[in-house]
Amino acid sequence: MKNSFYTNTKLIGLLGHPIKQSYSPFIHNIAFQFRELDYIYLPFDVVTDDLENALNGIVALGMNGLNVTIPHKVKIIDYLDDLSEESSMIGAVNTITIEQGSLKGYNTDVHGILATLNQFKNEIIGEKVSIIGAGGGARASIFTLIRYFKPKEINIINRTLQRAETLQVYFYDKMRFEHLNSAELFPPDLIETLNSSKLIINASSVGMYPVTEDSPINLEEAFHKDQIVFDMVYNPTETKLLSLARMQGANVFGGLKMLVHQAAKSFELWTGEEMPIEKLSQSLEAMIKK
Ligand SMILES: NC(=O)c1ccc[n+]([C@@H]2O[C@H](COP(=O)([O-])OP(=O)(O)OC[C@H]3O[C@@H](n4cnc5c(N)ncnc54)[C@H](OP(=O)(O)O)[C@@H]3O)[C@@H](O)[C@H]2O)c1
Repeated sequence: MKNSFYTNTKLIGLLGHPIKQSYSPFIHNIAFQFRELDYIYLPFDVVTDDLENALNGIVALGMNGLNVTIPHKVKIIDYLDDLSEESSMIGAVNTITIEQGSLKGYNTDVHGILATLNQFKNEIIGEKVSIIGAGGGARASIFTLIRYFKPKEINIINRTLQRAETLQVYFYDKMRFEHLNSAELFPPDLIETLNSSKLIINASSVGMYPVTEDSPINLEEAFHKDQIVFDMVYNPTETKLLSLARMQGANVFGGLKMLVHQAAKSFELWTGEEMPIEKLSQSLEAMIKK
């Protein structure tokens, strides 16, 4: 590996816009070093209009795999040759393998969500859940909840109501789950819904770096001590939403564990090797604290 001068190096890319906030290049490059694998992971800031061109270039250059992030997780499906069962059910892709020019999409966010919430499985079964957002993260959450947690009801709450309604219809068609509701993100009207939810997930990008003073819910009455509040945003590690929920006694979780576990599954798909999760989490936490 030391003497290859990059002639055998495999290249994995991240496609998103914006991508400056992403920790994925750090995670994967450190993991390649830990495992002594001759791979490099590079971020590419690509806008939606350039997505197809970018993918054609990636295949032509012989790159080996990709991560996909905001805002391309749904749109990218139009350009793929094959989908895993999970990503086809979810309708969003965050990982792509490239073999002999053929692009196959996967959704490893499911693994990150399970790693964070599995410990509460018995508490969530048969309860009400609210999800804020209607993008890729929300899709992965809805799928994971219906398949593994069997809640009584899922409320999809989004800034653009029509996107929440689209997901309601989509998951009824895909998974025959009837107890989905949709609502516009207008917190004063949602107090009752949020307060009576055992689990609240923020799958919107509100609160994410650099606009860290924002929160999708600013009303403390939405939270209480018997709730689980999971914010997928991982930068900052504790968002304004989580601080507010924590002050009301809720059990709060940021997106860092999800990030590491979804990355571990992607790493396995590209390299066939296990990511050293413990060692990597320690390096990531040390880097963030700097
Ligand atoms: N921890 C992890 O491993 C992990 C994994 C996946 C995602 N995430 C995080 O989850 C968040 C969402 O990611 P995604 O992939 O689902 O993104 P996405 O597909 O682009 O969806 C973004 C969502 O955020 C909403 N939104 C954006 N700006 C808003 C604003 N100012 N006010 C209200 N709503 C707003 C959008 O609402 P509209 O429909 O109205 O535009 C949409 O529902 C990001 O912060 C991402 O970093 C973390």
